[in-house]
Amino acid sequence: MQRTRFEGKVAVVTGGSRGIGAAVARRLADEGAAVAIGYRGHREAADALVAELGGGGRAIAVRADASVPEQTGALIERAVAEFGRLDVLASCAGIEHFDALEKITPADFDRVFAVNTRGQLFAVQHAAAHMREGGRIVLTSSVSASKAFFRHTLYAASKAAVESMVLNLSAELGQKGITINAIAPGGTATDMAVEHGASYLHPDLVGKQDLSGWLDVQVALGRLAEPSEIAAGYAFLASDDAAYMTGRNLQVDGGMF
Ligand SMILES: NC(=O)c1ccc[n+]([C@@H]2O[C@H](COP(=O)([O-])OP(=O)(O)OC[C@H]3O[C@@H](n4cnc5c(N)ncnc54)[C@H](OP(=O)(O)O)[C@@H]3O)[C@@H](O)[C@H]2O)c1
Repeated sequence: MQRTRFEGKVAVVTGGSRGIGAAVARRLADEGAAVAIGYRGHREAADALVAELGGGGRAIAVRADASVPEQTGALIERAVAEFGRLDVLASCAGIEHFDALEKITPADFDRVFAVNTRGQLFAVQHAAAHMREGGRIVLTSSVSASKAFFRHTLYAASKAAVESMVLNLSAELGQKGITINAIAPGGTATDMAVEHGASYLHPDLVGKQDLSGWLDVQVALGRLAEPSEIAAGYAFLASDDAAYMTGRNLQVDGGMF
């Protein structure tokens, strides 16, 4: 059965060049949306995805650093200019951070929050200005917002703030008929997981247990998610199937204990 939930709709996906964001762009486009992909460093990956999705009339890629609200605003303006409207914002751009309390600097704090928290707030501000009733906004939190890991305070706090933003913004946006929710992915097989996955191990387990052993005991399904499995959650929240769901955080984590 061909799925057409987003036929005639326009979506902006931040952080769409790789990983979860790229999978979200693919899923929304597969179901009929025209998609504008924001990226920061990986232009070739973004351009390749645009070509895969049918190019010009169906997808565009725009360089937009999510830590600079004006650039996200320009990405959204470009999507509206190109495709004539905006129905969905999937805010996926994010960066990881692990470090001990005594090593965290104010610059680290500003860098992580600028993308993960401030960047998502201003993406909502720019997107909501263009949305009509029925608009759908999906932000990105993490299971880390509600589960403690060693040296993960900064990243976890930046994501917990997103869940609070979603809860509070739902009241304002609800008055315009726009829904806003977050996805909290569990461990997902992306470049981020390759780079930082081992840091999730308790320090006492380093050298004694590998990541896959850890997943066996911490995650009901015993494995990382594929990005497409996380993207299915974004597509649900972005669709009419989630019309009566707002202000919520949906954990898509394979059953993390
Ligand atoms: N993977 C996981 O296990 C996991 C778990 C929980 C939550 N998450 C969250 O899910 C989201 C996607 O993660 P991922 O695993 O797909 O990460 P990833 O593989 O590292 O990809 C990150 C994506 O975000 C973009 N990005 C990063 N900083 C940006 C910036 N300043 N401006 C614009 N784009 C930026 C990157 O663009 P360029 O490549 O073009 O620079 C890339 O497209 C993040 O918010 C992350 O915190 C991931």
